[in-house]
Amino acid sequence: MKNGEKPLKWAKGKIDSISAYMAYTSRGNKMDIKVPDDPRALEWYERGKRHFYAKRGQLNLACANCHVDSAGMMIRADKLSPALGHVTHFPVYRSKWGNMGTLHRRYGGCSKRVRAKPFKHQSDEYRALEYFHAYMSNGIEVNGPGARK
Ligand code: HEC
Repeated sequence: MKNGEKPLKWAKGKIDSISAYMAYTSRGNKMDIKVPDDPRALEWYERGKRHFYAKRGQLNLACANCHVDSAGMMIRADKLSPALGHVTHFPVYRSKWGNMGTLHRRYGGCSKRVRAKPFKHQSDEYRALEYFHAYMSNGIEVNGPGARK
């Protein structure tokens, strides 16, 4: 970096503290993700949407199968949350992790859940997914940082 500092690592560590601070200072604002009328923006949006609805992994399940079709149902000891409102409370402190983590860290966990190989944090694939996923929550208040089990 230009100032000589090393770039922060993605997914956990200092990046979480900064994003937790930013989430906190944004509390009360409503999600307002724009998809400009530009082929590049539409391409990213469509890529994220495809990721969200595509079945993956050995279990052959899409994000939408659990977080849209089955929202509210129990899966073992967990109640499946709706995708709507997912992004508004990140980063989260998770008891399972014993520390904070970003949305992409959580994406990785859900990819593993269906026995798929997760993409890298901040990979184009997860960035596109986040774009679509965040757009879905437009109009919902930012209430991060959150805490989950
Ligand atoms: C087999 C079902 C299943 C699939 C498929 C799945 N998840 Fe999950 N996901 C869960 C469960 C169970 C939890 C924990 C309970 C909850 O919050 O819904 C969870 C939690 C999450 C959370 C945290 C919710 C919160 O309130 O903090 C996010 C974000 C998430 N999933 C995103 C995704 C995305 C994106 C995909 C697709 C890449 C995906 N999940 C695929 C089962 C699934």
